[in-house]
Amino acid sequence: MVTRFLPAISLLLAVILPLISRVVVSQRTDGTSFSPFSGQGEWQLLQASIGISAMHMQLLSNNKVVMFDRTDYGPSNISLPSGLCRHDMNDSVLKNDCTAHSVLYDVNSNTFRPLMVQTDTWCSSGSVRADGTLVQTGGYNDGDRVVRVLAPCTDNSCDWIEFHGYLSQRRWYSTDQILPDGRIIIVGGRRQFSYEFYPRSSTSSSPSDTQRLGFLGETTDENENNLYPFVHLLPDGNLFVFANNRAISLDYKQNRVATEFPSMPGGDPRNYPSSGSSVLLPIVDNNSGTAEAEIMICGGAPSGSFTQATLGNFSRALATCGRIKVTDENPSWAMETMPMARVMGDMVILPTGDVIIINGAGSGTGGWEFGRNPVTRPVIYHPQAMDRGTRFLVMGPATRPRMYHSTSVLLTDGRIIVGGSNPHVSYIFSGVTYPTDLSLEAYSPPYLAPEYRPIRPTVTNARGTLGYNQSFSVTFTVSMFLRMGIVSVRMVAPSFTTHSFGMNQRMVVMRTTGVSMVGPNAYRVDVVGPSTAEIAPPGYYMLFVVHSGIPSTSVWVRIQ
Ligand SMILES: *[C@@H]1O[C@H](CO)[C@@H](O)[C@H](O)[C@H]1NC(C)=O
Ligand SMILES: *[C@@H]1O[C@H](CO)[C@@H](O)[C@H](O)[C@H]1NC(C)=O
Ligand SMILES: *[C@@H]1O[C@H](CO)[C@@H](O)[C@H](O)[C@H]1NC(C)=O
Ligand SMILES: *[C@@H]1O[C@H](CO)[C@@H](O)[C@H](O)[C@H]1NC(C)=O
Ligand SMILES: *[C@@H]1O[C@H](CO)[C@@H](O)[C@H](O)[C@H]1NC(C)=O
Repeated sequence: MVTRFLPAISLLLAVILPLISRVVVSQRTDGTSFSPFSGQGEWQLLQASIGISAMHMQLLSNNKVVMFDRTDYGPSNISLPSGLCRHDMNDSVLKNDCTAHSVLYDVNSNTFRPLMVQTDTWCSSGSVRADGTLVQTGGYNDGDRVVRVLAPCTDNSCDWIEFHGYLSQRRWYSTDQILPDGRIIIVGGRRQFSYEFYPRSSTSSSPSDTQRLGFLGETTDENENNLYPFVHLLPDGNLFVFANNRAISLDYKQNRVATEFPSMPGGDPRNYPSSGSSVLLPIVDNNSGTAEAEIMICGGAPSGSFTQATLGNFSRALATCGRIKVTDENPSWAMETMPMARVMGDMVILPTGDVIIINGAGSGTGGWEFGRNPVTRPVIYHPQAMDRGTRFLVMGPATRPRMYHSTSVLLTDGRIIVGGSNPHVSYIFSGVTYPTDLSLEAYSPPYLAPEYRPIRPTVTNARGTLGYNQSFSVTFTVSMFLRMGIVSVRMVAPSFTTHSFGMNQRMVVMRTTGVSMVGPNAYRVDVVGPSTAEIAPPGYYMLFVVHSGIPSTSVWVRIQ
């Protein structure tokens, strides 16, 4: 036995030793880690066609991903279940439609089934409620004041339930965010300089449910470059709202602007149709009830690009990112430059705390037919790297362009699921530069490479429900525990992603109080739950253990 093992061990050490030194060098005191992986990751085709082009995506706590596009695209490539048809006299394209425009994709089995939406979900928004149910808001035409809910189920019984006329205003291109009290705020929308809440306060919708937000009126321009405003819930309970090139902190309870931040240097717009992307960088929670918060916004398209694109002139996208630590006394933007320019990219927080920027185009803007030069290579950004020159790493290319109306979200195993892309006003599968793409792919970042298997932790036990400031422990196994490595535990809220923005996306790095060995290759990490509902609003999160920069597959936990 022993002799048979020896070659295996020396092989393991040959793999691990260079890794240890790299990992040790990159230790951080703040509990986040920076892992200079080798490799460029891997692309995998999951489905050649799911029948629709995934314009909107939300991962649910049963590992199923809700996807939908719009009902006025004409017939899709998948039939509605059990011979159902949609009859909608208000649909502008197809009044009798027996095809589906939404599917539920099961990650574990790599299968999908059609769902039924009755009214138009085009360019809408959403958020998962604290109980795990997806609440989707607004859309276009007959769907613009509709709220639709989809509760997770383990069998095939769940489908959309629609509440017509629920919203007080038409909400098309608005942004949703769950609040500490479990309500959802719905901000803006086309020609809507206001916000409202779900659930609404009365049984029927009333104009008094609407609160005015003048900032959205001020930031609109001739190309309306302030749609899908970037909204992030801050640890002090206010909302960071970024529109066009300006940012505020909004006290939505008092309906007042708490802080006006400096506008982003350069003055170029970052919101749809000049679609950049935005994330709240990982929050490090020390259970003091407060925490630092930093926002990062990347890419977009220069002022006037939309007008230029209508004239056939596709401007080079923006290559800059801005970071602002909003909790500083005098916050200011620090600008950085990406290895390539990108518009319509998605920023997705990885379990390591790094940010991947994926999908999009090198020139043009959001909107029908207005993107050019697909950027097929994702980049991974390491927010903690001291040396700016090493923060961005360029990853391996995808084979399919992911242009307007493409999406991507993080899965529990650390892969990114990528779908959609349809820059056309209907489904067009051939004879055009960027045909409608109905496929689903998964991108595996370098941390999933087999060479890291010996140090990849596997969570064996974690409690399903966490309380605020509550101590708990997570047990995990790992074949090779690195004494010098860092173990950290983080929670990620799954985002509702569309149009290059992951609504509700956030990571909270929890306070670790100790790591101990509890058996052969088995360890226990003691952790304290997040401080407050402002730092981690109630609901389901993916809990990852990261050992020496390598994440486990996550388990779902519910904070309440
Ligand atoms: C439509 O679906 C069929 C199978 O159901 C598939 O063979 C075909 O390639 C799909 N079309 C596109 C454009 O993906
Ligand atoms: C169609 O639109 C009319 C007028 O807006 C509305 O009263 C009716 O309920 C709509 N029908 C459907 C099926 O949405
Ligand atoms: C958690 O503890 C901190 C520090 O004592 C406190 O400020 C915060 O309010 C607590 N959170 C909750 C939900 O009670
Ligand atoms: C916890 O974090 C807050 C916010 O960053 C900071 O003000 C405070 O000093 C920290 N407390 C400890 C004990 O580290
Ligand atoms: C194309 O657009 C860019 C900026 O978006 C502008 O600088 C350039 O002059 C335009 N070219 C033409 C031919 O209009």
